[in-house]
Amino acid sequence: MALSPLAIDQLDAEAWERAKREIEQADSATGDAVLACAYPDGGRGAYEAAKATYIVNDHAANFERARVILQPKQLEFAAAARSCDLPNGPNEIGFGGARGPGKSFVVFAQAALDDCQRFPGLKVLYLRKIGKKAKEQLEDLIRAVLRHTGAEYVNSEVRFPNKSKIVIGHFNTEKEALNYAGLEYDLIIIEETTQLSEKAYKALRLSLRTSKPGWRPRLYNTTNPLGPGHLWYKKRFVDNERKRSRGESYEDKRRFIFATVEDNRVLIALNPEYLAQLEDLTGAPLRAYRYGDWDISAGAYFTTWDYDTHVIDPIDEIPDNWDVWLSMDYGFNHWNVVQLHAQDGDGVIYTVDEIMHRKTPVETIAADIHALLARYGLAADDLPGVLA
Ligand SMILES: Nc1ncnc2c1ncn2[C@@H]1O[C@H](COP(=O)(O)OP(=O)(O)OP(=O)(O)O)[C@@H](O)[C@H]1O
Ligand SMILES: [Mg+2]
Repeated sequence: MALSPLAIDQLDAEAWERAKREIEQADSATGDAVLACAYPDGGRGAYEAAKATYIVNDHAANFERARVILQPKQLEFAAAARSCDLPNGPNEIGFGGARGPGKSFVVFAQAALDDCQRFPGLKVLYLRKIGKKAKEQLEDLIRAVLRHTGAEYVNSEVRFPNKSKIVIGHFNTEKEALNYAGLEYDLIIIEETTQLSEKAYKALRLSLRTSKPGWRPRLYNTTNPLGPGHLWYKKRFVDNERKRSRGESYEDKRRFIFATVEDNRVLIALNPEYLAQLEDLTGAPLRAYRYGDWDISAGAYFTTWDYDTHVIDPIDEIPDNWDVWLSMDYGFNHWNVVQLHAQDGDGVIYTVDEIMHRKTPVETIAADIHALLARYGLAADDLPGVLA
C-alpha cells in the first residue's frame, strides 16, 4: 500500500513511522534499487549522511513517502529550492550543466512532492520545448515521480488531492512560450532555458504572483550550455554564482547549481551506453553536453580557454619589475576596447584591466586611459607603447 500525499503538518509521528517502514520495505523497482545505484559505496548510511548535509527531515520525508531517493546533487538543488522560503532567500534557482545529471527529475520532484504538498492549492507552470521524444521522456518522468502518490495526470495537468496542480506547457517557438505569460503562477519551472531569449524569460517571470500566505513566488530552471540563450543565461546564473563563490558582489536572489552526468549514478548504472554516447560527441556539443562547459563561447575563439585556468583574482597592484603595456582595438559604432597587460619574470602574461567605450570622442577615451593607468600608479611615459 502506498501512502497518499499529505501536507507535512498533517504528518503525525505514527504516519512518519509507517512511511519509514514502507520505504524500508519498498519493492525493488523503486527505492532500494535506486539507493543501491545512487549510493554504491555506503547504501542507506551514505544516503542518510547526504540527506543530513543538505535537507531537513520533513523535506526528505516528502520525497521518501513517494519512494523517491534523491542523489547528492539533487539534494543540493532541493535545499536551494527550499531556501526560497526564507524572507531574504533567493527566488530563482538555475540547474545547468551537462546532459543527464537528473535535473528534470529533481526539479519536477521538488515541485510535485514537496512544494505542492506543503502549500495546498499551489499553481505551478512547468514549461518545456516540445518534441515527440521530449514528451515521452516527460511522461515517463512524471509516472516515475508520481507513482506512489494520489496524483492524477489528465489533459496536460497534474492534479493533487489537496488542489495543488502543475500545468504542463509545451512550446515550439518563443511566441508559443509567451502564450503562458500574463497568467498567474505561484511557481514557474522552465526547462531548456537557453532555448529562450532573455526578454521572453523575463516576460514569463513576470507571471509569478501569489496569494498564498508563507509562500514566496519562485522560478526553477534547467538547461545545458549552447542554444540561442547561452550568453545571457551564463551571465545571469553561471557568472553570478562564480562571483558569489569568489566573494565578489553578486545578485543575491539567484542561485546556480552545476552538475554533470557523473552526478547521476542511477543513470550510469542502469544505462551505461548513455555515457558512451556523450563521449562520442565532438567539438562544441562534446564540451557542452558531456562536460557542461559554460565557457564554450569564449572557446570559439580561444580553443584552449578554460575558466579555472585563465581567470584569476583581480590584480590590484602591479609589481615594479613587471613589464606593462596597453593594447587597443579601435571602434566608434562598435566597441573601442583598451586593455592593460603585464608580464611577470616567468614570462606569464596577465590582462590586468579593461575599459570599453562606444560612440565616444577620442578625448574622453584618452582621459579614461590616463585614469586607468593612474589606478595602477602608472603614467603614459612608463609604457613602451600601445599595440593598436
Ligand atoms: N533520483 C533518481 N531516482 C531514479 N531515477 C532517476 C533519479 N534521478 C534521475 N533519474 C533518472 O535518470 C535519467 C536522467 O534524468 P533527467 O532526465 O532528470 O536528466 P537531465 O539532467 O534532465 O537530462 P537532460 O540534460 O538530458 O535534460 C532519467 O531516466 C531519470 O528518471
Ligand atoms: Mg532534462
